[in-house]
Amino acid sequence: MLRLDRFLTSTGAVSRKEAALAVRRGEVTVDGAPLRDPAAKIDETRVAVALRGVPITFRRYLYVMLNKPSGYVSATDDRTLPCVLELLSPEHRRRGLFPVGRLDRDTTGLLILTDDGETAHRLLSPKRGIEKVYRFTCANALSDEDAGRLRLGIAIDGGEICRPAYLCPDPGRLSGTVTLTEGKYHEVKRMFRALGNEILTLERISFAALPLDFALPRGAWRELSDSEVEGLLSAARRDRTERETT
Ligand code: URA
Repeated sequence: MLRLDRFLTSTGAVSRKEAALAVRRGEVTVDGAPLRDPAAKIDETRVAVALRGVPITFRRYLYVMLNKPSGYVSATDDRTLPCVLELLSPEHRRRGLFPVGRLDRDTTGLLILTDDGETAHRLLSPKRGIEKVYRFTCANALSDEDAGRLRLGIAIDGGEICRPAYLCPDPGRLSGTVTLTEGKYHEVKRMFRALGNEILTLERISFAALPLDFALPRGAWRELSDSEVEGLLSAARRDRTERETT
């Protein structure tokens, strides 16, 4: 059971104040009849709620895709630097969304934000080996040997071994994609440094098989669709051994 105003704010579309006002004005119906008490308890699994005639689907958790621009830190707040939360709406900020993992300040592209701590934790767990795909440009042309070294698991910073990564250079060999199944600090940049190369630009284009929506301009965000959320949740449930054998 849940308060009616909490049900309405779960979508992120209205603030608590707006929800309460709409309820008092009779703009919210529960099973077809207006319910004018914002604190009324409803069974979120059974009732049909509509706001000004538009059905509202209860969302226990929110999942947002942001096309991160360069210059923002992947944090909820920072004393000196702009952070990704500033790009979301006040409603989403109030919901307590946080980024699932980090992209460097100068890395762009797909960043998921949610208030679902359990799923975020699972997606970030090295046990799950969630795939992340990055598009890059680099300073020096890549060789076949470079791809082989990354595939075997390269040692970075004098000893730390990375999990196998899959390099797919473009024809010019100064750009391409690289796929990782872990998320060490500055991992792609450190891998390229270990190859005697240097990353010039880095953009994440996929996370847990969820592709970046290229219709989203840099700095823009949207909520994930139901099927995208389902994909993310199922990736969070599966462990790496299951993924490797299916
Ligand atoms: N690897 C990096 O070096 N930076 C990122 O932002 C993500 C992966």
